[in-house]
Amino acid sequence: MSSKRQILVTNALPYANAALHLGHVLEYTQTDVWVRFQRMRGHECYYLSADDAHGTAIMLKADEKGISAEQHIADMRAIHEADFKDFLISVDNYHTTHSEENREFSELIYNRLNANGHIAKRDITQAFDPEKNLFLADRYIKGTCPKCKTEDQYGDNCEACGATYSPTDLINPVSAISGATPIEKESTHYFFKLPEFTQFLKDWTRSGAVQPEVANKLGEWLDSGLQEWDISRDAPYFGFEIPDAPGKYFYVWLDAPIGYMASFKNLCDREGMDFDHYWNKDSKTELYHFIGKDIVNFHALFWPAMLSSAEYRTPTKICVHGFVTVNGKKMSKSRGTFINARCYLDHLNPEYLRYYYASKLSGSVEDIDLNLEDFQQKVNSDLVGKVVNIASRCAKFIANGNDGVLSANIENPELWAQVSGAADSIAEHYENRDFSKAIREIMAQADAANEYIAGKEPWKLNKQDGKQQEVQDICSLGINLFRVILTYLKPVLPAMTAAGEEFLNDSLNWDSVQQPLTDHKIEKFKPLMQRIEKDKVDAMVEASKEEAAQAAAKPLEGPLADETLNREPIAEEITFDDFIKVDLRVALIVKANHVEGAEKLLQLILDIGGETRNVFSGIKSSYKPEDLEGRLTVMVANLAPRKMRFGISEGMVLAAGDKKGIYLLEPHSGAQPGQRVT
Ligand code: 2FM
Ligand code: ZN
Repeated sequence: MSSKRQILVTNALPYANAALHLGHVLEYTQTDVWVRFQRMRGHECYYLSADDAHGTAIMLKADEKGISAEQHIADMRAIHEADFKDFLISVDNYHTTHSEENREFSELIYNRLNANGHIAKRDITQAFDPEKNLFLADRYIKGTCPKCKTEDQYGDNCEACGATYSPTDLINPVSAISGATPIEKESTHYFFKLPEFTQFLKDWTRSGAVQPEVANKLGEWLDSGLQEWDISRDAPYFGFEIPDAPGKYFYVWLDAPIGYMASFKNLCDREGMDFDHYWNKDSKTELYHFIGKDIVNFHALFWPAMLSSAEYRTPTKICVHGFVTVNGKKMSKSRGTFINARCYLDHLNPEYLRYYYASKLSGSVEDIDLNLEDFQQKVNSDLVGKVVNIASRCAKFIANGNDGVLSANIENPELWAQVSGAADSIAEHYENRDFSKAIREIMAQADAANEYIAGKEPWKLNKQDGKQQEVQDICSLGINLFRVILTYLKPVLPAMTAAGEEFLNDSLNWDSVQQPLTDHKIEKFKPLMQRIEKDKVDAMVEASKEEAAQAAAKPLEGPLADETLNREPIAEEITFDDFIKVDLRVALIVKANHVEGAEKLLQLILDIGGETRNVFSGIKSSYKPEDLEGRLTVMVANLAPRKMRFGISEGMVLAAGDKKGIYLLEPHSGAQPGQRVT
C-alpha cells in the first residue's frame, strides 16, 4: 500500500435554522463513505463538521420562537447531531461556527487580509426597515411584481412570471419582517478585494482542485470579471463583530468556511494534535471539502483567495455534488417527498438510503434521483437478495456439518482469486468518489458467488452419502466470498458490516481480506438485513405530508412571522387536461338556509343559468344566510353528487380559507349565472 496519507474532510456546515432533509443526507453519506474508505485503507482521516450558526435568518428565527439566538442554535445543534449519529455519519468533531475558535480565526484571517491591503471600505445604500431598524436583504422585501403584477413576490425575482428585477422596482414594496415600507439608507461596508485574486484563481481552479465541469463554470465567472465581495453586515446581526469596526459584523459566509478550521482546532486542542501541521501554507496533508453545486462560488473562489492571502494552505479538492430529486421531481412538501432526515429514520433503516445513494453517486455534479420504487427494489434485490443471501444459504451447513468451523481449503481458487482480486479496482472507484461503479462491481462479484452456490447445489449434495466434505468446502468458500463482498461494502454499510463481523468472528479490513478464513470458527448466523416493506415507505411519505401540512397550519408565532411563508403548500402539479376537466360555473345564490343539526354547513340553492343546484357548503362560521342571497359565486358544476347526512350535495362552491376565515369567491360584476370560468 502507498504511504499513509493525512487527510482532513468536511461537509457543508448545515444552517442552524432548519431540520436536515434527505438532500443533506446525500452529502453526508457521500462524505462519510469516502472518509470510512480512507480510514479502512489505513490512512489518517479526520472528518469535521459543525452547525453554521450565524446570520439574519437565524436571528429572526430565534426572535420568532421568543428565545435567544444562543438557545436556538444550541437546540438546533443537538437535533442535527442526533441526525448525523443516526445516519451513521462518522464525524470526528461536530462543532459550531459560533465558537471562540471561530471568532479567533475569523479575526486573525480578516486582520491578515486587511494588513495585505485586500479589504476595501465604502458607503453603500440599501433598503432599511424603519420599524425593526435593520437593513433588509433582497429576500426580506416583498411586493407586487412590476411585470405581471402578481402580489407577494420576494426579493429580486417573480415566482409567477420569472422576471428578474431590483427589489426597488417592486410595486408597493414592504418589509417581509414588519410589513413597514422600506426606506433607503446609507452605511459603510467592508469588501474583500476578490478581483485581485483573478490570476491566482484561474490557476488554482485549473489545478485539478475541482471537477472539470465545475472548472468550466468557474472559468466563465472568472472571464466575465469578479466583483468585490461585501463581507460586512450592520447591527443587529447574529455573528462576530469586525475588529475595530463597532456595529459591523462579519457576513455569515465569511466565517462559515473558517468554521472548518475552528472545528479542527477544537479537536486538536482536545486530542493534543498539531493544528499548524495541517493548515500551514506548505502543509503536505490533504484537505477535501464536500459541497453542493449551489455554493461553489464560496468554496472555489472566496475561500481559496482568503486562505491564500492569510497564508494558509488551500483545499486539495472541492468535491461538488448535485441536488436530490424524489421520483424525478424537485422535493415537494405537498407530494410528501420533502422528507426530513428524522422522518426517514422514524420509518426506515439508514443503511437502505446510504446504499441507494452510494449506488447512484458518480463523482459528478449531476442530480441524484431517489425513486422510491427503485429504492425499495434495489435495496431488497441487492442487499437482501444477493449479499445476505450468500451467507444465509451457506451458514447452516457449516454450523450443522462442522460445528461452525470453515474448511481448511479453498474449493474454487479461480473464483476466490476473481472476487478477492477485485479489491484494487473497487478501491479506485471509491477513491474517485465513483461509488456507483464500485457498487456495480461489488454486485457483479455477489452475482458470481450466488451463481457458484446455485450451480453446486449444496442442499442436494448434503443429502448424498460421502459428499459432506464437498458441502463443507463449497459453503466455506461461499462464506469467504461473502466476507470479501461485505468488506467492500463496509464504507457504505457500517452497521450491517459490524453484525457481519460478529457472525464471521473477524474484523474486516481492506488488506486482510486477501487472506481467506480457513479452519476458522464462525458464529451462529442471524439475518443481517430485513427487506424494505412498501407500507413503511408509504407511511414515511404520508408522515412527510402531514408534517408539511402541520407546519403550514401552525398558528403564526411572534411579530416576525410571515404569512406567505406559512401558507399551505401548493398541491401536486396537474396537467392542463386535468384542469380543464373541472367545469367551473358562475352561480347565483338564490337561497341560503341554516341546516338543522349541522355545525358548519349552510344549504345553498344555486342558479347556474336555468339549472338549479342544491349544495351544502361549510361556510357557516363566516356568513349569515341572508347576506348571501342574491350574490354571485363560482361552483364546480361537474362534481359527482355526494350523499350527505342532510341530503345530496350537487357540487361545491369555491372559497378561500384557513383558520383566520372563509372568503367565498365572487366574480367581477357583470358575470352571468351559468358562464364557464376558466
Ligand atoms: O448552504 C449552506 O447550507 C451553508 N450553511 C453551508 C456553509 S458551508 C461552510 F462554508 F461553512
Ligand atoms: Zn411577475
